Amino acid sequence: MQRLADKTILITGGAGGLGSAAVALFIEQGARVVISDLNVDTGTALAARYGKKAAFVAHDVTSEAAWAQAMDFVAQQFGQLDVLINNAGILQSGDIETTTLAQWRQLMQVNADSCFLGCQHGILAMKAHGGSIVNVASVASWMPMQDFPAYGASKAAMASLTRSAALHCRKKGYAIRVNSLHPDGIYTPMLQATAPGIAPEHILFDPARNPKGRARMPDDIARLLVFLASDDAQAVSGCALQADNALLGMGLWP
Ligand SMILES: NC(=O)c1ccc[n+]([C@@H]2O[C@H](COP(=O)([O-])OP(=O)(O)OC[C@H]3O[C@@H](n4cnc5c(N)ncnc54)[C@H](O)[C@@H]3O)[C@@H](O)[C@H]2O)c1
Repeated sequence: MQRLADKTILITGGAGGLGSAAVALFIEQGARVVISDLNVDTGTALAARYGKKAAFVAHDVTSEAAWAQAMDFVAQQFGQLDVLINNAGILQSGDIETTTLAQWRQLMQVNADSCFLGCQHGILAMKAHGGSIVNVASVASWMPMQDFPAYGASKAAMASLTRSAALHCRKKGYAIRVNSLHPDGIYTPMLQATAPGIAPEHILFDPARNPKGRARMPDDIARLLVFLASDDAQAVSGCALQADNALLGMGLWP
């Protein structure tokens, strides 16, 4: 049985590493997918690969006007929206002394403002019929990040927004589930940029932190997006699903 049969999904950052893996699995599971991204060339080529089951929309997730246009595009292409995946994001390094205010604001804009706008527009689009919103946060929502404090703060904002939006939907009686997903390292262009030329089995975290000895592959995490998007997760809302290979549970989290 296909777990996302007849569902329409909008995924932001759909042309990226995790996004494109998720698009493939969503389509395999019967969904119609709108791929949103700033990267027009890659997004258009990806959508073309799936024929009528996918469409691409150029969408800057920091822009309120662009969110309204993206929602109109979904309605025109496929009708009712059933699932929104807030996945677009950026990572920039810099510790608390070296991060500039401009960098802080950019990270908050792309990672946190986008989640706020996405939840707002997603709830508006789905409140009459229900649906699922998944916010792709990070283990950085909870972990101190010496070299990525602004990224961590932006992902913590996503976790908090998720819980508040989920509670709002419950109290309003909307059949919309809102959950966040918290991976540690995923072998995508974002992670590769932090360690150029290093193979997956050597990338990220010392062996004590990552006994599996490698970063997660995009498919490993995309399968969790399928679960949270699907009716299999009917009982789950306001949940922060950690996909961190026990990083926090190992007590390595100060
Ligand atoms: N890779 C990791 O180790 C890791 C770990 C935890 C969480 N995450 C999160 O997973 C999500 C996906 O990341 P990824 O690893 O696939 O990275 P990626 O860089 O491969 O993909 C990110 C995508 O977001 C798009 N994007 C960036 N800014 C945008 C904007 N303003 N509007 C629209 N699209 C925009 C990019 O064009 C790109 O296609 C991100 O939210 C990231 O923070 C990644």
